[in-house]
Amino acid sequence: MSQERLKRYGVYQIYPISFCDSDGDGKGDIKGILSKLDYLASIGVKNLWISPLYASPMRDMGYDISDYYAINPLFGTMEDFDRLVQEARRRDIRIIMDLVVNHTSSDHPWFQEALRSPESKYREYYIFRHGEKGRRPNNWTSSFGGSAWEPVPGEEDNYYLHLYGKEQPDLNWDNEEVYQEVKKILGFWMEKGVYGFRCDVISEIYKSSFENGRKGKISTPVGMEHFVAQPGCHLILKRLRKEVIEPRGGVLIGELYGVDQPQAEAFLDRELDTLFGFEITDTKGLFRQQMRPSDFKDVLIRWQEGVSCNGNYLENHDQHRSVGKYVQRGRNEVSGAKMLLTLLCALKGVPFFYQGEELGLVDYDRLSPEESHDVVRSFLESLLRRFALPGFLRHRLARKFGRDDARGPMPFSGIDGYGFTLPGRKPWQKFYEISPERNVEREERDPSSVLQYFRKVLSLRQSDDVLSLGTIRFLPSDKEILSFLREYGGERRYALFNLSNRSRKAPVLPGSRRSLILSNIYPAEKNSTLLPYECRLYRIDA
Ligand code: NOJ
Repeated sequence: MSQERLKRYGVYQIYPISFCDSDGDGKGDIKGILSKLDYLASIGVKNLWISPLYASPMRDMGYDISDYYAINPLFGTMEDFDRLVQEARRRDIRIIMDLVVNHTSSDHPWFQEALRSPESKYREYYIFRHGEKGRRPNNWTSSFGGSAWEPVPGEEDNYYLHLYGKEQPDLNWDNEEVYQEVKKILGFWMEKGVYGFRCDVISEIYKSSFENGRKGKISTPVGMEHFVAQPGCHLILKRLRKEVIEPRGGVLIGELYGVDQPQAEAFLDRELDTLFGFEITDTKGLFRQQMRPSDFKDVLIRWQEGVSCNGNYLENHDQHRSVGKYVQRGRNEVSGAKMLLTLLCALKGVPFFYQGEELGLVDYDRLSPEESHDVVRSFLESLLRRFALPGFLRHRLARKFGRDDARGPMPFSGIDGYGFTLPGRKPWQKFYEISPERNVEREERDPSSVLQYFRKVLSLRQSDDVLSLGTIRFLPSDKEILSFLREYGGERRYALFNLSNRSRKAPVLPGSRRSLILSNIYPAEKNSTLLPYECRLYRIDA
């Protein structure tokens, strides 16, 4: 049932610091989210995943937790949170928390105690290893750059592991006490009425060995074969699901960093309800911002055919906006934005939407290095400066891998403060001045807007068993056209997508009697030419 709820309704992601600021400090908060629940309900949101709200020094924007039982004062109080859960339920919206348990913040009392006293049991909560004669314990690298081992202050040749920033020490999942702590945390939030968890880099929690890693592509960390998708990780997930999630009818969503498609399905065997892979984000090429339509098609088909309940996403707080990545900016970008939303709603699995995607927002790519808050970007900037790359190349690389561009404040209106913060106040990060015409208020008034279209297509998915629960079968077509059948209970839908920015010939349509249910082009085209980014959904009657 729980998985079915995700498939039917999809999941909307809020990045809390940038969603809505109720008190004018320039940072989004829980009261801000409360004030927008009616908006969320009106666009069809039923499952709401909120990026970390826990107490945190925010060195990685909340993905560094210093207290799993407290709300970050920046975002409000525990009372605000309890109200959010209740008010959301009143609108039939379930809250999904982010859960970050590959690592804690280095400010977490467990880690502080581990550093303070080598004899403490908290040493065993983390991964400490000795190096030899000034050499680190192995050659593993962090996803944020540099070695994954940080010297322990004041202790010769002793290091702790951090697969992310050095302020994010990895937990030791070989320790039963760590498992019990996490189990308690999950139970605490579920008792409050939380529906489930989006588990951060959950594929990496279990380290099977500490041997040196193979060196691969420069964009992937060294050592992954020792800690990605290990048998120990599957055992932990099975246990957590059985002991905490299932008895309460909740859901688990996994972020599977480093996991390729053939490895992914195993995570759905009594572990996760749905998962995200990363192949969909790979534009192939160090400097390439935009994905080729044929590469997009290949990766979509592979994950649809090989994974029974994939989490289908095209953007989030770590990625670039989908307009500009899977479709070209410019004249056809509105059709492109609608096409991508239709795709998410027509595919098998669980559709994920990121705040602002329903407006067709594009990257805000004008932040200077000094205005950035992203640890990845600052690492890259300093690295690239060392290599004395010309400014424009440095900027392109830092932009490609940096994570600021989709993290800007959500524009609810065109007035001063954009309806995000109070008029006259400065938001924590600059607004999307690039597309000032895209904001909720304006799009509500424009019948041809991306927002109005989003409402329509999401409600279509939610009310149609075939689109939300059916099987999928891809039909042969030109390499930049995606064409597939969905089938459920003897009914069929046919979907056709032109992934390219050029007019293309439509393939021969299946079925002799069919009716068009939805198209992103107005008035709907019925002929055999597909306009740039045109998409169509049909019901097949015979
Ligand atoms: C994935 C999160 O989405 C990202 O924002 C974070 O930096 C890393 N995991 C580390 O927690």
